[in-house]
Amino acid sequence: MTILVAYASAHGSTRSIAGRIGAVLAGRGLRADVRPMAEVEDAGAYEAFVLGSAIHDRAWLPEALGFLARERDALACWPVWLFSVGMPAALRGPWRHFGAKEEGLVRDDLRTRVTAVDHRLFSGVFLREHTSLVGHLLFRALGCRYGDYRDWPRIDAWASTITTRPALFGRRRPRPRAGRPSTVEENRPSRPLSPR
Ligand SMILES: Cc1cc2nc3c(=O)[nH]c(=O)nc-3n(C[C@H](O)[C@H](O)[C@H](O)COP(=O)(O)O)c2cc1C
Repeated sequence: MTILVAYASAHGSTRSIAGRIGAVLAGRGLRADVRPMAEVEDAGAYEAFVLGSAIHDRAWLPEALGFLARERDALACWPVWLFSVGMPAALRGPWRHFGAKEEGLVRDDLRTRVTAVDHRLFSGVFLREHTSLVGHLLFRALGCRYGDYRDWPRIDAWASTITTRPALFGRRRPRPRAGRPSTVEENRPSRPLSPR
């Protein structure tokens, strides 16, 4: 089986995290293709998916949402894991709880688009040059600090859970018949995504 690890990244953190997840999967003897979502030509060639996007304004990047819509039928057939990359670890003091809140918000939105085994929000790299002056002033006003917040042990641990889930081995449901598009209702998860 080959697992697709596909990502949408604006400044590189999500790409690096996808690469790391791919390396963990490969280290466990699995075949993993790591590539940008925009360069996936045939999602139907894969038997499991690990999909990740940077978060901008509390949502996945448009190209990542486009990928979920475009590949809905392929994603409905095989197990899917999702990860988001934001900056919850950069939040300070009373703002820290926004990180947990954001994970729930993003998860709820994704749940309407794709059925997934799990979703995780990681922190990435956030630097001054990534944001506008207004964004910078807001960021500083909230007491946040720029930096590299990637937590590699946490990322490795999550990637390892993928390799041990029985869900990894097996088609979830038959391919939809030609000419019959799947519905959002069909794509709703049969059980909630795990909270963390
Ligand atoms: C325009 C913009 C908006 C952002 N909005 C959010 C947000 O709503 N929530 C969040 O947690 N991080 C937000 N971030 C931080 C990025 O998600 C974070 O830097 C992440 O590491 C980006 O991943 P990338 O390097 O793959 O693009 C934003 C960054 C930018 C540049």
